Amino acid sequence: MSTPFDTSAATIAPEERGPAYDPLASAVRDGLTATPKWLPAWLFYDDVGSYLFEQITELPEYYPTRTERAIFAANADSILEAALGGRAPGGTLRLLELGAGTATKTGILLAAAIRRQGLTQYLPIDVSEASLQEAERSLSQLLGAVEIVPQIANYVTDALAIPPHSGPTLALYIGSSIGNFAPDEAVAILRNLRAQLRPGDSLLLGTDLVKDERLLVAAYDDAQGVTAAFNLNMLERLNRDLGAHFDLSRFQHRALWNAGESRMEMHLESTVAQTVRVPGAGMVVQLWQGETIHTENSYKFTTESVRAMLAAAGFEPVQTWRDERGWFAVTLAAVTGQSRTQRSQRAQTAPI
Ligand code: AVJ
Repeated sequence: MSTPFDTSAATIAPEERGPAYDPLASAVRDGLTATPKWLPAWLFYDDVGSYLFEQITELPEYYPTRTERAIFAANADSILEAALGGRAPGGTLRLLELGAGTATKTGILLAAAIRRQGLTQYLPIDVSEASLQEAERSLSQLLGAVEIVPQIANYVTDALAIPPHSGPTLALYIGSSIGNFAPDEAVAILRNLRAQLRPGDSLLLGTDLVKDERLLVAAYDDAQGVTAAFNLNMLERLNRDLGAHFDLSRFQHRALWNAGESRMEMHLESTVAQTVRVPGAGMVVQLWQGETIHTENSYKFTTESVRAMLAAAGFEPVQTWRDERGWFAVTLAAVTGQSRTQRSQRAQTAPI
């Protein structure tokens, strides 16, 4: 199982990867040769998966999307007011967004910014050109009052480079998208953003909160089986894109609450012992009966864990908005002078 060398593509720096480098095949090879087996959550979002995710957001059990939208609808003006703080007028506020798949919710905030200041710049940053175009389409009602400056970039793997601006920036990272990442990765993503912001700029972070386990499990294992289809579509995608031979009837969707890690997990469980060929990744996968492939983590937060994550990345909470049931939080955070690592590094090297 283990070799003396780490042969995973993750050890090859992005700039060294040749034109033949295939992130899909390489991710599949990495995950399916690991113990336990796993596949990264970004593999969900091919065309079918993106459509299924849209369906998930409308399910009765899947509360995060409508809860966050309601928080925005009720508080958009206060959020904008707080983001501008006591700042003297000078330059217009621009909205930046990590990801662009959330344009309906973003539209509520953009409309509030436009009410306040008129023409507003919006910079969605996303890996997928298609979702940037989709974002432009869904914001068409605001057209004329919003200047969209889309940027194709992977904010997870690459350093951000945001164009300079004369006024303040409000960065949005909503939908609890941050919940897909392990705590250290989440902090790295926020630091990457923090490095591009200046004092006076702010971050609006949407986080799903810890709640009754039954509500969480239902949200990831809905009665209509849409989330099961979304999870299984990852194998269908490997069949389509890598010529793999996964038989979806031999896998079952599993959603479980991992209290120790404070996260929902999704897995695909092999219902039989089987061998599956994956030509596009140049491999054959063996699974025993009951073996699982871990496909997603969705971390759930508390006020304290949000604060700690923000502090580690160089932000400090200014104001938090929650729904009445306390299921979801939207936190406005200001950039602090430096991130906690910088501070502790300085403390370590400071003369005694
Ligand atoms: C898009 C990562 C916020 O974790 O709730 C929904 C994805 N997975 N149902 C989430 C998802 C299963 C979603 N995020």
